[in-house]
Amino acid sequence: MKWWRDAVIYQVYPRSFADSDGDGIGDLPGVVSRLDHLAELGVDAVWLSPFYPSPQADAGYDVADYRDVDPIFGRLADADKLITEAHARRLRVIVDLVPNHTSSRHVWFAAALAAAPGSRERDRYIFRDGKADGGPPNSWQSVFGGGAWTQVADGQWYLHLFDTGQPDLNWDNPEVRAEFEDILRFWLDRGVDGFRVDVAHGLVKQADLADWHLPMVPLTGPGTEGAPRPPMWDQDGVHEIYRRWRKILDGYEGERILVAEAWVQPAERLAAYVRPDEMHQAFNFEYLEASWTAADQRSVIERSLAAGAAVDAPTTWVLSNHDVVRHASRLALPVGAPRPNGIAAGDPQPDAALGLRRARAASLLMLALPGSAYVYQGEELGLPEHTTLPNEARQDPTWFRTGGESVGRDGCRVPIPWEADAPSYGFGPSDKSWLPQPPVFGELALDRQRGVPGSTYELYRSALRLRREHGLGYGALSWVPGAADVVAFQTDNLLVLTNFGPNPAELPAGAEVLLASEPVAGREVPTDVTVWARLP
Ligand code: GLC
Repeated sequence: MKWWRDAVIYQVYPRSFADSDGDGIGDLPGVVSRLDHLAELGVDAVWLSPFYPSPQADAGYDVADYRDVDPIFGRLADADKLITEAHARRLRVIVDLVPNHTSSRHVWFAAALAAAPGSRERDRYIFRDGKADGGPPNSWQSVFGGGAWTQVADGQWYLHLFDTGQPDLNWDNPEVRAEFEDILRFWLDRGVDGFRVDVAHGLVKQADLADWHLPMVPLTGPGTEGAPRPPMWDQDGVHEIYRRWRKILDGYEGERILVAEAWVQPAERLAAYVRPDEMHQAFNFEYLEASWTAADQRSVIERSLAAGAAVDAPTTWVLSNHDVVRHASRLALPVGAPRPNGIAAGDPQPDAALGLRRARAASLLMLALPGSAYVYQGEELGLPEHTTLPNEARQDPTWFRTGGESVGRDGCRVPIPWEADAPSYGFGPSDKSWLPQPPVFGELALDRQRGVPGSTYELYRSALRLRREHGLGYGALSWVPGAADVVAFQTDNLLVLTNFGPNPAELPAGAEVLLASEPVAGREVPTDVTVWARLP
């Protein structure tokens, strides 16, 4: 059994996990100091968002040097220590690789700016002349808002699908390919167990850079089946790159993995990224976006499992990450409404109790599904989105590039609480925190939940233990027919049931409840509750 097929992988967002030096920004020694928490929680691996030298124009997703650690996060030796200490606790380590773009402060980009149009230096990026009318080379918009082209002093333009500080690389250039193969080896040699590949569906652009007039909805894929495929996403040429990378990883001992961050739909196109000679996993964002109804949940689960099975890849499941509204808040929004890019103080506020109740039910459903599951730091505490952040505190480039129209992703990136009564809720030794923490983080701090029966933290811990004991991550699922408002399936003699409907659902006679997202009395499963039960 390959470890990654059923692994529970915990996302650490280093800026906001644990701060060792009190500057208000989390760091790698902070992560090391809290590894015992992850071991106690019972996850299999840690994925770290970028910690490389960066001007932080996009919280580190603008990398200036792929082979070092930014001083705000520590030193290279701290990364080595983290890998060793994680391995000592049987935790695998996955790092983030950002190949679609570099930072504008990368040496290559500085060289490109200094060189002439048509030069070898410029060819590592996507520089073009503007249109005859003086406008940019095409109509593309940045995912973060505004145009996707910025003009340089000599009149040429460069492409950035994200921030101005994130120029897109030219993946037709062999030097770019060679460089990233070398970067992979650099981290593989240091012992990492894999890479989460940022914007994996964006590296190759349609050669003619054809105009595209539909909106570049923030971080969504190419839309639904039958819709035209945008010229910047999910081009067939990306697959050759990942086949080469796979060969490199396979040359190393241990089972090192590649995970695609690809906002690609439908599931069959996403499955192409995890064919046997390509990546190992791809984030299942269709699942994250599924609405809170039994019908939608059942159909996305079915589709995802079928698409994965067709290429013999495990399905992945994810509810939250550093780019989306935390599911403890998102699931309280009107069912079926489009997923917002952040929630502001002036927006209708999600009902916190409802959100937490559904989040606990959703997590318990997710952790019972066969495949690999991702847990975003703090969801094991039931943390909500910070929905009333003051605008002065905001740092997401989306906020600036849309002129405040989209508040962006800061609300899910707030430093997490460890101790209710400590400064910065135990995030660090001082009261500094790069984004202000909401007061509810005190009540939800780890030390308020550890050892408390029924707390979200203990629910996750029990779920992870039972998941392992019952082999849920690699079991085959069979659907249990029943009421339309209920999702129910069985692996061996374990029944998993989520009730989405207004009326209580009934467990079969003799079922013994092993775990439930809320207290259940007798055989009745209330609304918005998931139960794991042993069948007679
Ligand atoms: C990915 C990251 C996101 C980042 C973007 C550009 O979607 O998850 O945080 O802003 O890529 O690198």
